[in-house]
This record gives sequence, structure tokens and C-alpha cells, in this order.
Amino acid sequence: MELNEALKEGLNYLEDSKYTNPFFEVRLILSRLLDKDISYLIAHDKDILDEKILDEYFSILEKRKNGVPLQYIFGETEFFGNKFFIDENVLIPRDDTEISVEALIDIFEKNSVRNSLEIGAGSGIVSITMAMRYSDVNFTAVDISDYAIKNTKKNIERFNLENIKVLKSNLYENIEESYDIIYSNPPYIKSKDIEELQAEVKDYEPMLALDGGVDGLFFYREIINGLDKYLNKNGYVIFEIGYDQGDDLRELLKDYSVEVLKDLSNKDRVVIAKKGE
Ligand SMILES: C[S@@+](CC[C@H](N)C(=O)[O-])C[C@H]1O[C@@H](n2cnc3c(N)ncnc32)[C@H](O)[C@@H]1O
Repeated sequence: MELNEALKEGLNYLEDSKYTNPFFEVRLILSRLLDKDISYLIAHDKDILDEKILDEYFSILEKRKNGVPLQYIFGETEFFGNKFFIDENVLIPRDDTEISVEALIDIFEKNSVRNSLEIGAGSGIVSITMAMRYSDVNFTAVDISDYAIKNTKKNIERFNLENIKVLKSNLYENIEESYDIIYSNPPYIKSKDIEELQAEVKDYEPMLALDGGVDGLFFYREIINGLDKYLNKNGYVIFEIGYDQGDDLRELLKDYSVEVLKDLSNKDRVVIAKKGE
């Protein structure tokens, strides 16, 4: 089959799928399988594809039609300019989480930070991105999920980092130090809203990464309760939050000086709170 025919067939096959972008995806999938840029496909549209590539191509399209996210199919995703391993047992990093990284960079630039704790690291993208930039800061990333720990370790090895350690811990359970920075993007979706999530999220992403309890605030409360003990004086706690949780977090953090940052859609996305003397 010629390359242009494969693209056309792929396009037809995915046409009615709800959460795909067929025009972009068929090209992306084929270019990855051929290990070439998308522009190569245009110049070589009459090339005959070999059977093995075609089999893989159609098997990936079938997974996409069933809603499996591309990032899980490829086992990789891009975050803040770097490629990270991910598998179906960890949350797929969201673009909005880059706002958390920008907030953290701003704080690191303006303060003397010695150590940083992340609760609920998932694939490790946030702490690893920061550890790459700040080699003199000690990072600790914890998660309750063995899969997340394994995935984070794989990414730490990928970037050959020595200033970050990863621990299995239910919130602060296995934490012994106190920190200048505590960061978390915890599960924050209300339990009753989980059913309404799009199929790609609800059926394929781990529930452990999504469910924030009855009001979606369970993990924020737990983490805030530990700040007296685990956050150093003049330290910062930074949370990624749901678009409608800004006011709740201001209330939960009323003893702190709080700033809420917005995302590109002008919705509340990140909370920064500073602890006093
Ligand atoms: C929303 S995901 C965030 C993952 C990653 N930080 C990111 O932004 O892509 C939340 C993470 O919290 C972890 N988690 C859930 N309950 C936890 C708990 N009790 N203690 C520590 N981590 C927990 C989940 O396993 C999941 O990896």
C-alpha cells in the first residue's frame, strides 16, 4: 500500500471517533513508525509501505478508535521541552501543569531554596524538570503508587539525575525532614464527577490520580494539615488546582499569604502560599 493510501484509510477509519484529531494523528503515527519528520510524508507519499509498518499502523489506529491515549500507546510524552516515559498506570501530564513549573521557577529564582518535596509525583515530570534546572537543590518526590514510583525512577535514570530521590509514601507518612518548598498536583476531581469525565480519561487513566474525594479537596486538606510540621519558616506550598477551587483553597490557606495564578483560559490553576516567620 502506498503511503498516501495508508493516510487516507487511517483518516476514514478514525473519522467518527470522538476524542481524536484524525488529520494530525494519522500523520503523527506514521511518521513515528517510519522514524521520520511529518514533512517526509509529503515528499514520499508514493512510497510503498512494508507489511510490518502497516500492521503496526492499523493496530495503533484500532487502539485510538477504542480511546487509548496516544501517549500511552507511544509510552512517551513531552513536558516542558523534554520527553518523559509514561505508561498507563500514571496520569498523562497536562499542558496546564507547565504553569506550576513556571511558578516554581519564579520562586526558586527569588529565594534561597535548599530542598523541595513533591507529594503525588506520578511520572515525576515536575520534580524532574526542576531537578534538571537546579542541581544544587535536593528534591524528594513521593507517591502512594508503586507504578508511579517505578515510572519516576525510570525518568530519573533517563536524565541521569543525582539530586532527586523518590519514595513510596501515603502523603507525609514516610517523610522525616522539613522542606523549603512543598508542591502537589493531587487528585482533585469530586468523586461524583468522575463518571462525567471523557472516556479517554475515565477509562484509561488511573483512578488513584483523579479522585479527590466527596468535595475534591481531601488531599489539599491533608497536605495543609501537615504544613506546620513539614514546611520550613518562609517556605512555600504550591498546588495545582481545579478551575473552580481557587476560593476553597484561599479559605483552607487563610493563615498564609496566598496568590492564585490563572491558566491560558483565564481559569484558576495554581495556588502559591507563603508561610511566615
Ligand atoms: C493528579 S496526579 C499528578 C501526577 C503528576 N504530579 C502530574 O502532574 O502529572 C496525582 C498523583 O497523586 C498520587 N496519590 C494519590 N493518593 C496519594 C497519597 N495518599 N499519597 C501520595 N500520593 C498519592 C497518585 O498516585 C498520582 O500519581
